[in-house]
Amino acid sequence: MRKVLVVGGAGYIGSHMVRLLVEAGRGVVVFDNFSQGHRAAVAGVEVFEGDLMSPDDLAAAFDTYDIEAVIHFAALISVGDSVTDPASYYRNNVTGTLNLLDAMRAAGVNKLVFSSTAAVFGNPLTEKLAEDHPLAPINPYGWSKRMVEQVLADMAHAWGLNSVALRYFNASGAHPSGEIGEAHDPETHLVPVVLLAAMGLRTALKLFGDDYDTPDGTCIRDYIHVCDLASAHLKALDYIDTAPGAHAFNLGNGAGFSNQEVVEAARRVTGKELPVEIAPRRAGDPARLVADSTRAREVLGWTPEHPDLDSIIQSAWDWHQNPSYGPFAHKRLTI
Ligand SMILES: NC(=O)c1ccc[n+]([C@@H]2O[C@H](COP(=O)([O-])OP(=O)(O)OC[C@H]3O[C@@H](n4cnc5c(N)ncnc54)[C@H](O)[C@@H]3O)[C@@H](O)[C@H]2O)c1
Repeated sequence: MRKVLVVGGAGYIGSHMVRLLVEAGRGVVVFDNFSQGHRAAVAGVEVFEGDLMSPDDLAAAFDTYDIEAVIHFAALISVGDSVTDPASYYRNNVTGTLNLLDAMRAAGVNKLVFSSTAAVFGNPLTEKLAEDHPLAPINPYGWSKRMVEQVLADMAHAWGLNSVALRYFNASGAHPSGEIGEAHDPETHLVPVVLLAAMGLRTALKLFGDDYDTPDGTCIRDYIHVCDLASAHLKALDYIDTAPGAHAFNLGNGAGFSNQEVVEAARRVTGKELPVEIAPRRAGDPARLVADSTRAREVLGWTPEHPDLDSIIQSAWDWHQNPSYGPFAHKRLTI
């Protein structure tokens, strides 16, 4: 069977994608350097251990397997780190993607779904962000994704690469099996940070800034369940077959929740008190990021199945409570 190459498939969103592809009866092989990924997340799945920074690793992967399409999740993902260490972000996220595209072209593979981000928009000019909102990133992480989107458009003209960039808002939640979920190191995403505090694995629960121009002063984000993101990729793979060229879709629920509201939801779900400390703003954080995903709904036929914030947090909490979480827990978490 021809395979979908899931680059970064051992990571948080990638491993949920792998589960869905397997369930859908598709052939799958994961390409990951395990810098962030977890071996437990891809147990029982074919894995090629390799690095995007190595053209030899990529050539070997395409030589070894009959690849029909690529879904590319691999990236460095921390906005804050990208501000202090932009070179690493441009190297891994932009140069790494160029290496991948070179290997695809050499192997005659021209179908790609790419993980982009709401960070390509920068500070919103409208209440909700649709695809036609100007792209004006305010941090190197967002720029690295914006640059790749431009590369994908140029490669469509240059050699017929067909691609869909999916711009996720805040991925959250965990697989209903309770076997895989979110575990970055260091963890900077609010939902797992709050749950780790609820488990006593983080001593301080910090919210960065309470003086933003929002009703309670904390940042507002759009939380989208990781399984809903995965289902959009499956639809994007089909869409590419009907629509050549480079396309982009925004993926969110269209509802914004402040950091304070997320903590309140986590208090309801976990039954824990969860005391909060207000810290200074983080560099590169816009006040509000909420998606207008009308286009993904209308063109891809995508409908999120888990839009409720408490249910999203409940699914993440179920996983953190599950024995499966053990191999994912990082030693450095107690800070
Ligand atoms: N998590 C979110 O809320 C969110 C939001 C918007 C966009 N995204 C994008 O989605 C993608 C996946 O995010 P995630 O949260 O699953 O991240 P993650 O860190 O859990 O997964 C990324 C995976 O890529 C691998 N990887 C990184 N660099 C590599 C390299 N050079 N070679 C091979 N493998 C490499 C890592 O080991 C990891 O398994 C990223 O591209 C990210 O920018 C994530």
